[in-house]
Amino acid sequence: MRIAVLGAGHVGPVLARLAVAAGCPVAIAGSGDPARIAMITEFLAPGAVPLSASDAVADADLVVLAIPWHRFGMLEPGMFTGKIVIDAMNHWPPAAAPLGTSEEVASRLVGARVVKTLNHIACQDMEPPDGRAVGLAGDDAAAVEAVSEFLRRIGFEPVPVGSLAAGRLLEPGSPLFGVAVARPEFEKFTKELA
Ligand SMILES: NC(=O)c1ccc[n+]([C@@H]2O[C@H](COP(=O)([O-])OP(=O)(O)OC[C@H]3O[C@@H](n4cnc5c(N)ncnc54)[C@H](OP(=O)(O)O)[C@@H]3O)[C@@H](O)[C@H]2O)c1
Repeated sequence: MRIAVLGAGHVGPVLARLAVAAGCPVAIAGSGDPARIAMITEFLAPGAVPLSASDAVADADLVVLAIPWHRFGMLEPGMFTGKIVIDAMNHWPPAAAPLGTSEEVASRLVGARVVKTLNHIACQDMEPPDGRAVGLAGDDAAAVEAVSEFLRRIGFEPVPVGSLAAGRLLEPGSPLFGVAVARPEFEKFTKELA
């Protein structure tokens, strides 16, 4: 599974590092010239390849959006057609919005197979993953299964929470936000919220 991580800030390099350690080919991109993130990549995610966002996505099976929400509008929607896209973004600072980020991502990236996950877990709790539960949500069952496989491979325990709309449970303001626990405890939260 070839991975493209868009975002080379706090979250992106952690996920790139975990994916490299799991044996996946990984490309990572910031918003500009890949030369700008060459050193970050060498230190924080050795083995990942810095590329432009469009080149990284073109070669990938699975794309992780780990960029600030207010920058999402910069991305060219056409390049995501047919790709499985993880939306790890959050409204930040938390904002009351009529739709969850992933519903907006799916409606803008027409033809992409969007799965929401990793939103609720802070980057400092992502590594080591230690089998921590991560909720995931999506409307495309095969894409959810592919992302679950990726999450398992990098060391998390995926826990489906329902449709993309149900994925709002993973966003800031939800009791699940910030939760970084093992599956049984995570499922207690989800059952209480059901
Ligand atoms: N931090 C956490 O603990 C955490 C946990 C879960 C989810 N999240 C969510 O994950 C996302 C990333 O958070 P973060 O803390 O990693 O943010 P961050 O540290 O501010 O890093 C943002 C990165 O995104 C890049 N970027 C911006 N626009 C881009 C574009 N159009 N194409 C490619 N890369 C682009 C930036 O590159 P440039 O420097 O070139 O602009 C930068 O490398 C946010 O939506 C956040 O809400 C964060």
